[in-house]
Order: sequence, then C-alpha cells, then structure tokens
Amino acid sequence: MTRLLDRIPEALRALSAYSVPTPQGIEVKLDANEHPYALPRGAREELARELAAVDINRYPTADCAELRELIADELDRPQDSLVFGNGSDELISFLVTTFARPREGASRPAILYPVPTFSVFRLACTGLGADPVEIPLGPDFELDPGAVEAALARSRPNVAFFARPNNPTGTLWRRDLIAALARNHPDVLFVSDEAYDDYCGDSMVDDLAHIENLAVMRTLSKIGLAGARVGFVSLAPALATALEKVRTPYNVGSLNQCAAAWALREARETLRAQCAEVVRERDALFGELEALPGVHPFPTRANLILMRVGSPGDGMATQVWHRLCERGVLVRNLDADGPLSGCLRVTTGTPEENRRFLSALSASLG
Ligand SMILES: Cc1ncc(COP(=O)(O)O)c(C=O)c1O
Repeated sequence: MTRLLDRIPEALRALSAYSVPTPQGIEVKLDANEHPYALPRGAREELARELAAVDINRYPTADCAELRELIADELDRPQDSLVFGNGSDELISFLVTTFARPREGASRPAILYPVPTFSVFRLACTGLGADPVEIPLGPDFELDPGAVEAALARSRPNVAFFARPNNPTGTLWRRDLIAALARNHPDVLFVSDEAYDDYCGDSMVDDLAHIENLAVMRTLSKIGLAGARVGFVSLAPALATALEKVRTPYNVGSLNQCAAAWALREARETLRAQCAEVVRERDALFGELEALPGVHPFPTRANLILMRVGSPGDGMATQVWHRLCERGVLVRNLDADGPLSGCLRVTTGTPEENRRFLSALSASLG
C-alpha cells in the first residue's frame, strides 16, 4: 500500500478532499449556498411526468441538444460556444486539462486565482498537476489590480479564474477590471465564474463578443437545481471545440438534462422571481447581522453572507458554529488559520429559516 500511496503527487497528498460536514439533527440547512425554495407540488408532478418519459435504457443526448438551444437563447450566444458539465465543478477540471501545455521553459502550466475563493480551483489545479498561483485579496476581500497584473506578468498562467461574485466572500470584482486584464493578456484564458449571477446581475456575457480569451461559466445549482448537477461555459467556438475533447462522454445524465430543460422552459420566471426575493431577504439579513454586537458581515452580491464572529484566532466562530448545530442550524465554518480566521458563511434561506438562524445565532453568541 505504501508503495502505491507514494505514487500520489506530494501536492495532492497535502490537500484535503472537498468536505461537507453533516452533523445530526439539522433542521435549517444554510451551509451550501443553495436556493432555499423547493418546487411546489404541482410543478413536481409535472416534472415527474417528464422524467417518466425519459428512455433511461439509452445513453443521454450526447450534445445536450435541448438544453443547448435553451441556454444559447437565454445568453444570446452561438450554440457551438457552449460546453456542458456535470456541475460547473467538472468544467473547472476540463478548462485546466485543456489549457495544460506548459509555457516555454516551464515544466508545468500555471493557473491563477485570487484567494480566498472557491476551493475547487485549488483542488482541480493540484489534482491535474498544474501550479496554482494564488493572489491574496485585501482585508475586505477586494482585488488589488496591481498585484494581479504583476502576478500575471510574473507567473504567465494559462488560465485565470475569477468567481464573480466570489464564494465564500460574496465580493463582486469589477467587470471592467477583468476585461482590461484580459485585453492586456490575450494568451491567458480569463474565466468569469458566474455561479451566483441570478443574485447579482453583473455578467460578462456581453463581453464575450469582443474578448476572445474570455469564458463565462454558469451553473443551475444556485437557482433551484443543485441536485441536477448542470453547469455550462460559453467561450469562443474554437476553444469550445478543444474543451469538447476532454469532456467525458455523456457527462450530463438524461434525467438531469430533462429536469434542467424542463425548469428552463416551464419554471424560469418563477425561479428568477424567487432569486429576487432571496436578494431582498439577504439584504434584510445583512442588516440584522450588522446590528449584532461582535458580528461583522462583509458586503455581498451573492446569496451568501460571510461574517466574522469575534476576532481572528480567538476560536469564537468555531464555538458559535457548534452551538448553532446544537440548535439545529447548519452554516459553513471557515474558521481556520489564514484570511478567513474567525469567519462563518451563511446562505440566505426562506424568511422562516433566516428568523430561526438569527435567533439561534443571538442565543449562541453569549
Ligand atoms: C464560485 C463557484 N463556482 C462553481 C461552483 C460549483 O457549482 P456546481 O454545483 O455547478 O458544480 C460553486 C459552488 O458552490 C461556486 O461557489
């Protein structure tokens, strides 16, 4: 066994797998940035009928034809600019795998992203043998354009990921800044990861027509279909063709394609209205958190709120996390050494869930 374990790259051995804590007795689940509203009964029955008609004995439609048409329409992008993934997580790996040729003089490709950010950028990059280039964000998780420009020039990455808005901080980095960086570095693929776009509305989709080295990545996970695992990226068709070569065959299951296409056809407006409702709730929740002594929420444009509880390094956030779990409320504990020390992240829930969270939090702070 040791001999086999020795075959795993050191960088990968040093990482921990993406982990999702599942404490017992949780009644209010606000840890995963999901959409809080389940489908109403009538819609579920309609969806069940659609799913029942899927020929499960056959492989799925290989090119996600119906979804492709619906999404190309929604984004006003050519159909051949789209690549689909089993969630956008998978697309991150496809992007790193495709643009993997090291620069002249380097033994490995470099991939750049600001930190703290979505942990899958680091996991995919390390797992696929690329060198991560991590740019520290400022104290309020703002992006320092000079630091990014210097890192781009120094490390010459193949791909640069920017989650807009960022997870777990909720920060929205400026569109014109990313566009300017992309124009300055035409040999780097800039990815605007817009997982939370429905809560934010600051997409770079329109920039795709003018910036060839830009990709816009989205997911249906945050707007009510996390269980379906459907993500997509739009980029120049010539680059999409290259990505298609590393896409695993039939990577989006037929039940998932069916559910996603049904939701876009029949429930898009409802989902959009629910996201607007979540934004209103998020702003109200932010105000309540700001008023709590010892809690410092960071401004956000996603459906999540990052907050510092107590002071970095005092262990208060982790204590509060345990107390919240005991009260049946699950949020994400990010309290570890580094820039997120003392931080918890809460997903905006339904009004009732938010009320229960706030009351459990107030009771846990003492
Ligand atoms: C910024 C960001 N990108 C991508 C994803 C992955 O989403 P998916 O469910 O489509 O894999 C997440 C999930 O939390 C995210 O926060």
